[in-house]
Amino acid sequence: MAIEDASILFVFIFFISLFFTFIFCKTKVHCTCKICHAYVTSSWLFEFDNLCDWYTHLLKNSPTKTIHIHVLNNTITSNHQNIEYMLKTRFENYPKGKAFSAILGDFLGRGIFNADGDSWLFQRKMACLELGKRSMKSLAFEVVKEEIDHRLIPLVSLFLQKEHEVFDFQDVFRRFSFDVICKFSFGYDPKCLDESLPMSELAIAFDLASQLSAQRAMTPSPLVWKIKRLFNVGSEKRLKESIKMVNKFAQEVIRQRNKLGSCCNQEDLLSRFMATTKDPNYLRDIVVSFLLAGRDTVASSLTGLFWLLAQQPEVVAAIRAEALMVTQHKALTSFEQLHELHYLQAVVYEGMRLFPPIQFNSKFCQQDDTLPDGTFVKKDTRVTYHSYAMARMDTIWGPDCLVFKPERWLKDGVFYQETPFKYPVFQAGYRMCLGKEMALVEIKSVILSLLQRFDIELARPSLTPRFSPGLTTTFTNGLPLHVSERSGHT
Ligand code: HEM
Repeated sequence: MAIEDASILFVFIFFISLFFTFIFCKTKVHCTCKICHAYVTSSWLFEFDNLCDWYTHLLKNSPTKTIHIHVLNNTITSNHQNIEYMLKTRFENYPKGKAFSAILGDFLGRGIFNADGDSWLFQRKMACLELGKRSMKSLAFEVVKEEIDHRLIPLVSLFLQKEHEVFDFQDVFRRFSFDVICKFSFGYDPKCLDESLPMSELAIAFDLASQLSAQRAMTPSPLVWKIKRLFNVGSEKRLKESIKMVNKFAQEVIRQRNKLGSCCNQEDLLSRFMATTKDPNYLRDIVVSFLLAGRDTVASSLTGLFWLLAQQPEVVAAIRAEALMVTQHKALTSFEQLHELHYLQAVVYEGMRLFPPIQFNSKFCQQDDTLPDGTFVKKDTRVTYHSYAMARMDTIWGPDCLVFKPERWLKDGVFYQETPFKYPVFQAGYRMCLGKEMALVEIKSVILSLLQRFDIELARPSLTPRFSPGLTTTFTNGLPLHVSERSGHT
């Protein structure tokens, strides 16, 4: 390296160090309370496998079921009255906020997940209208059925021939849900679940962008990632490259759709949005939002559910018995038929209670406020509700809260739904998930079709779940399963 280059590098490093020292002094990183100390030094790792387990422990022991992590300026709650207050009663005081919008803005743009106010309301109305249509529900059912019959079942049948091998079903479910959401939303088939299990550059770039965007929220000050972005270094450089790749894909999908024009009577979600706007940036944001909404959440639900089902033979037997009764040995023919499977619906809700695909969700407080449990919340600070911790509160679910028990969702054999404020897995209030019905169709169809044909077993039963950081719950060790043909099934 030339001497001149070396001195430029030295000056650069010197200023960066100076800057970071300044940032760390300005933020409350040196708060000395016990919780903040454990957070900053990561000493909680001596006792807990996952950050969410440590938070659960702290929340359980808090008389209000609310805690404050000073170094993050974050109030975390598992109190359902606080959640109703944030998501409904004082909804306008708890938007996603500018800080969140800045963190995810490069990746999500102005898409529905990253918007507040009028822009959010407009997109919500549009999406609501489209996703609520009967034709969209039928489309979802058809897309899911096709992917199961032509890809998922043939692939798992192929696994059977490699008797002693272990397969990561988390990877299978991620491929499955990526194909489904792309076909449903844009009429594009990435064929990720093809027998050769191809590596999709788009899927890799999308994962990276989502992971690195989530990491921004974990830095002690936004200035840290903003400086890295300014100099285009480290994780910010990788984020920029992965977003570029995602954008290339989105632009191509939109171009193809434009080329087809209205002549082909396309049924997918993007075509319907294109009828209302031609703004390419806005359409790009819609493509990315729906990929994010429909891919990882569904795959994560299925991973948690199969981890539980592989250890609960009596639940598997009950699912099979109910399906036999409703379908009379035939294949499911419509999404309406799925509604008749009350026990299966209870299994899905119970699985997502224990392993919510989105473990926590944050809003930003606009004006100083006091939550119903008496906690004061300062303007411009973060308030987070913690679905994972809530599932483990005996104050909400009773002393058997840690047990996987689908029966808690049934009254006289009929599915009964708890208030969403106690179960904010799909969020609750004005911004509740719009894809819930579609997700349920997908999850229930996969469970049924796999359990009707195969027996499943955990390949490494001693492994306890560990989660990787990201926007949705990911099992660090995947979901290694052994599958075998069900006796009597051909
Ligand atoms: C098991 C699967 C799913 C879970 C657990 C889930 C959960 C959630 C949650 C927690 C939110 C609130 C996010 C936030 O505001 O930060 C949300 C919002 C949303 N979800 Fe889902 N989701 C799932 C599947 C889907 C699918 C398949 C779609 C689309 C086809 C979808 C579409 C949406 C949309 C459009 C919103 C934004 C609503 C708004 O901001 O007004 N979701 N979902």
